[in-house]
Amino acid sequence: DFAPANHRPLHGRRILITAGPTHEPIDPVRYIANRSSGKQGFAIAAAAAEAGAEVLLIAGPVPLPTPPGVIRVDVETAVEMATEVEAGLPVDAAIMVAAVADWRAAESQAQKIKKDGSGRVPPLALAENPDILASVAQSSRRPPLLIGFAAETNDVIAHAEAKLARKGCDWIVANDVSADPMGGESNRVHIVSNGGVDSWDRLPKAVVARKLMEKIADELDQRAP
Ligand code: CTP
Ligand code: CA
Repeated sequence: DFAPANHRPLHGRRILITAGPTHEPIDPVRYIANRSSGKQGFAIAAAAAEAGAEVLLIAGPVPLPTPPGVIRVDVETAVEMATEVEAGLPVDAAIMVAAVADWRAAESQAQKIKKDGSGRVPPLALAENPDILASVAQSSRRPPLLIGFAAETNDVIAHAEAKLARKGCDWIVANDVSADPMGGESNRVHIVSNGGVDSWDRLPKAVVARKLMEKIADELDQRAP
């Protein structure tokens, strides 16, 4: 990274970032989750703050330190994340890096579910979580630049293009997790927009984050100097 400390291309911009997994309770001691480490989202929040932005980081449960200069709100579930995102608008750009659980337990039990000794397994009914990115895209306070992330194992660009259209966002940062398993230190990403595809080499997550901030700053400057 050769950027001098006074290079602050996002000065005066307000940026909202979601990061990490969500945990969806089944009962007081059990939950549904996924393998998101939160590292890429936290690296993006750190890079946004270094670039001079006012950063609101809405974080699922991850044991990571808050990057300097970042305002952090911790949440547990997708529904809580949706509420905090809504409360954080309006912003100049929103970057939805969180791996939101697609489903939650339809009913979370108030007491621990116990084995009854019969060998019967309890039924687990699921309900679909709100799609935070898609709702923000539809909202009257839609940010001028709305970015989603997608971890894909195959047909990465095609899946990302379909997701871009389905979600109504401006860019999808497609992360090829066939090369780098989730939780690692680097990512190979393709930034997919209606203008085309920008493919980057496999890079450390902090470098992906800094390059993304340069690209976001350029885009915001073009739209509203
Ligand atoms: N996302 C979201 N709310 C959800 C699910 C996803 O805001 N309930 C956001 C993620 O933060 C990410 C983008 O949508 O920025 C893409 O997430 P992804 O899981 O890849 O998309 P899905 O529509 O859930 O598709 P898939 O079936 O591939 O999981
Ligand atoms: Ca999903």
